[in-house]
Amino acid sequence: MGTPSGPSRRRCIPWNRLLLAVSLLTFWTPPTTAQLTIETVPPLAAEGSDVLLLAHNVTKNPLGYAWYRGERVDNSQLIASYRVATTKGPAHSGRETLYPNGTLLIQNVTQKDTGSYTLLVTKDDLQTERQTGHLHILPMLPRPVITSNNSNPWEHQDTVVLTCGPETQNTSYMWWINNQSLPNSTRLELSEDKRTLTVFNVTRNDTGPYVCEAWNPVSVSRSDPFTLNVLYPVAQPSLQASNTTVIEHEGPVVLTCLTDETGISIRWFFKGRSLLLAQRMTLSSDNSTLTIDPVSRQDAGDYQCEVSNRGNSSRSDPLSLHVKYKLTPESSSDLSAGAIVGIVIGAMAGVALIGALVYFVYVISTRGASDQRDLTEHKSSDHNHSQGHSDSSPEKVDEVEYSSLNFNAQELKNKATSASPSPTNTETIYSEVKKQ
Ligand SMILES: *[C@@H]1O[C@H](CO)[C@@H](O)[C@H](O)[C@H]1NC(C)=O
Ligand SMILES: *[C@@H]1O[C@H](CO)[C@@H](O)[C@H](O)[C@H]1NC(C)=O
Ligand SMILES: *[C@@H]1O[C@H](CO)[C@@H](O)[C@H](O)[C@H]1NC(C)=O
Ligand SMILES: *[C@@H]1O[C@H](CO)[C@@H](O)[C@H](O)[C@H]1NC(C)=O
Ligand SMILES: *[C@@H]1O[C@H](CO)[C@@H](O)[C@H](O)[C@H]1NC(C)=O
Ligand SMILES: *[C@@H]1O[C@H](CO)[C@@H](O)[C@H](O)[C@H]1NC(C)=O
Ligand SMILES: *[C@@H]1O[C@H](CO)[C@@H](O)[C@H](O)[C@H]1NC(C)=O
Ligand SMILES: *[C@@H]1O[C@H](CO)[C@@H](O)[C@H](O)[C@H]1NC(C)=O
Ligand SMILES: *[C@@H]1O[C@H](CO)[C@@H](O)[C@H](O)[C@H]1NC(C)=O
Ligand SMILES: *[C@@H]1O[C@H](CO)[C@@H](O)[C@H](O)[C@H]1NC(C)=O
Ligand SMILES: *[C@@H]1O[C@H](CO)[C@@H](O)[C@H](O)[C@H]1NC(C)=O
Ligand SMILES: *[C@@H]1O[C@H](CO)[C@@H](O)[C@H](O)[C@H]1NC(C)=O
Repeated sequence: MGTPSGPSRRRCIPWNRLLLAVSLLTFWTPPTTAQLTIETVPPLAAEGSDVLLLAHNVTKNPLGYAWYRGERVDNSQLIASYRVATTKGPAHSGRETLYPNGTLLIQNVTQKDTGSYTLLVTKDDLQTERQTGHLHILPMLPRPVITSNNSNPWEHQDTVVLTCGPETQNTSYMWWINNQSLPNSTRLELSEDKRTLTVFNVTRNDTGPYVCEAWNPVSVSRSDPFTLNVLYPVAQPSLQASNTTVIEHEGPVVLTCLTDETGISIRWFFKGRSLLLAQRMTLSSDNSTLTIDPVSRQDAGDYQCEVSNRGNSSRSDPLSLHVKYKLTPESSSDLSAGAIVGIVIGAMAGVALIGALVYFVYVISTRGASDQRDLTEHKSSDHNHSQGHSDSSPEKVDEVEYSSLNFNAQELKNKATSASPSPTNTETIYSEVKKQ
């Protein structure tokens, strides 16, 4: 007996890239005395593994055995013979071991080992008995790969054929979509050998992933998941604002791009152009919301958002943002500021001129009055009465005039800052001056 542990130990050797399975079919020759049989162990094995061709019901006390390749006893096809010791024949590959009980071990079987094997047993009466077996090799299946005849099909338009490859004989195929067996759909059709799957009028729901499996009696292998990149027109998004009319520098405004689409990216447009993000603007991580805080008058205008997938894109209708703001001297335009300054200076100059004029008139009138008094001392009460007004309080009139003028000038200044100044204010000053 050889080494019983040998075959089983050798079976642990890792399989090669292309492994082939072996099965042995036995053909019976009419039994004479005992029924010699040949059994393959294991019944199905892959290339690279070890196979035993077990000889059963061997006659008692045989004189010897001989194993031949093929179905005939042909010395040129002798693998090995055993009489007292083993003798190698011309067909010995270096991988065969013939045991004293007639069993043949073939190690590390290859595709070339496919074929028939014939055992010749020489009985003690010099009669011979033979049995022929057939090694049928099935390939070990490589990992299949799914291919599509259209890598970017359009939804509702294209029909896609998925193929599980490479093609190998005597191989069965199975498919899964989304990790489940194929659903009952009129849009799905398997070829007779199940190697190709046709998806009619693809929809975005047919994206997958798809997995195919190839199997034969000795091996099973699954493909990597395959995803169909179905293109579709995306629906138009809508744009919402937390408030479309906002006051400058007051609080944030939040613009939200509303879409039901998944697997899309979002872009923003301002006045029809790609939005340039200012520091006061922030986008959410998925770009679906735009926050402007604080709002500037420069942010007023039309906003749009655009959703796009690999095949299509769609822009929302424009949304107008209105920004209200207060006019302040620093912030008002150069022209109006200059105008206001000019008017104020003009008013001040007018006041100074009027003051000088009033003073001059006052001096003249007081001088004239004193002259008159000098000439007509203690004259008529009418004169005194008429003069009394100016005589009694010349300083007061002066004061009233000045305060009145100052007040008007102040008022003008205030009006000029808050609203556009009107020349009527200036006229008012002059009319008051004329009154005096
Ligand atoms: C013949 O001997 C080998 C090696 O000892 C053993 O593995 C095999 O099972 C034997 N054959 C039979 C039919 O018992
Ligand atoms: C051996 O032969 C007997 C008688 O023909 C048969 O019943 C038996 O099944 C055979 N054994 C094997 C392993 O073939
Ligand atoms: C088995 O055979 C292959 C060639 O068919 C060879 O490359 C490999 O080294 C062999 N393995 C062993 C363990 O002998
Ligand atoms: C893929 O195959 C289907 C079915 O034969 C066919 O209708 C379709 O036009 C093919 N697509 C391409 C891109 O060839
Ligand atoms: C496939 O199986 C048939 C019988 O089922 C066989 O005749 C043929 O040789 C096999 N082909 C391969 C490559 O194994
Ligand atoms: C697919 O199903 C298997 C079991 O059937 C499970 O182990 C695996 O996690 C599933 N994969 C996915 C992506 O759902
Ligand atoms: C699939 O549909 C066919 C015919 O419409 C039906 O006979 C069959 O039972 C269905 N199979 C499943 C799994 O629903
Ligand atoms: C695919 O779409 C075409 C045109 O819309 C229709 O005529 C055909 O019946 C559809 N096929 C299937 C399997 O739904
Ligand atoms: C995709 O599946 C969803 C959910 O089942 C369904 O609501 C939708 O109409 C499907 N879309 C298409 C284009 O078939
Ligand atoms: C998006 O799809 C629609 C409908 O198929 C098409 O009319 C439009 O031209 C597409 N737009 C782009 C940008 O591809
Ligand atoms: C929008 O903002 C304005 C100014 O702050 C405010 O008066 C108005 O109530 C706001 N409208 C809404 C709907 O919040
Ligand atoms: C958000 O938009 C920016 C540019 O506008 C782009 O670079 C980025 O990829 C977008 N992110 C997402 C998640 O769409």
